[in-house]
Amino acid sequence: MLASTQELLETARRNAYAIGAFNVYNLEGVKAVINAAEKLRSPAMLQIHPSALRYGRSMLVAMCLEAAKAATVSVSVHLDHSTDQQDIQDALQAGVRSIMADGSPFEYGKNLDFTRQMTQLAHQSGAIVEAEIGRISGTEDGLTIAEKEAKMTDPLQAVAFVRATGVDALAVTIGNVHGEYKRPPRLDFDRLAKIRQLLEIPLVLHGASGLPAAMISRSIQLGVCKFNVNTEVRQAYLQALKEEVCGKSPSDLLEIAGAAITAMESVITEKLALFGSVGKA
Ligand code: G3H
Ligand code: 13P
Ligand code: ZN
Ligand code: NA
Repeated sequence: MLASTQELLETARRNAYAIGAFNVYNLEGVKAVINAAEKLRSPAMLQIHPSALRYGRSMLVAMCLEAAKAATVSVSVHLDHSTDQQDIQDALQAGVRSIMADGSPFEYGKNLDFTRQMTQLAHQSGAIVEAEIGRISGTEDGLTIAEKEAKMTDPLQAVAFVRATGVDALAVTIGNVHGEYKRPPRLDFDRLAKIRQLLEIPLVLHGASGLPAAMISRSIQLGVCKFNVNTEVRQAYLQALKEEVCGKSPSDLLEIAGAAITAMESVITEKLALFGSVGKA
């Protein structure tokens, strides 16, 4: 059934597990998330990046909403990493009730203004808002320790930011990165513990692809109740496509699609187990 993100996150937090939010681009991705969630009786989130939103327009949103409604487990639909008011308006218009207003590429003052305005807009439509301070990067290569720390979420600034913007969830930057970790990940758990102490709202960890099980469970203990996963699912999809197509002369499109779904489903299944949401639907 179509669930509210707020309810999913709050239930997860009360019961010390986390929700997996998986980026989807097409029908195969949507089916992979729903299949895995239903088989494990787990809640899940279908997450649409603005690039996918623009590619699929309201069709991708409609597909996600329909899939969530038809699912036998609780599934919510979320707009990921939006830096553009138009994308947020389009998603709200298409029926999405959970958005990330991502002002993190801007300097702090502009992030605050953008996030405050987008939160007002979203709340008017009954949508909830995730925001970010600090800056999650693609790779940390070439940065000094001071530079890395400067990009991390400052706990006191996080409190002021949440108060001033009225956001419902906060994505933290504690050493997590999008895409592959070029060297073993190191998360600043002291920083996370401090943020948790000071803030009541659900915390989100982006860049979950590549994080080992122990870091995931430690993050959950310290209050993370949503993990964003993209790269590992996408890699499984691309690998399956290569294996199905290269050197062969496939004639059945549905067979190729099926292999891609199975490959993505297996990554999603693994992640849902790590997040502790199995049997919590
Ligand atoms: O978070 C942003 C997008 O989901 C990009 O993910 O690191 O797999 O390119 P990526
Ligand atoms: P990964 O690509 O590292 O899984 O990060 C996904 C993400 O944070 C999407 O918002
Ligand atoms: Zn992200
Ligand atoms: Na990652």
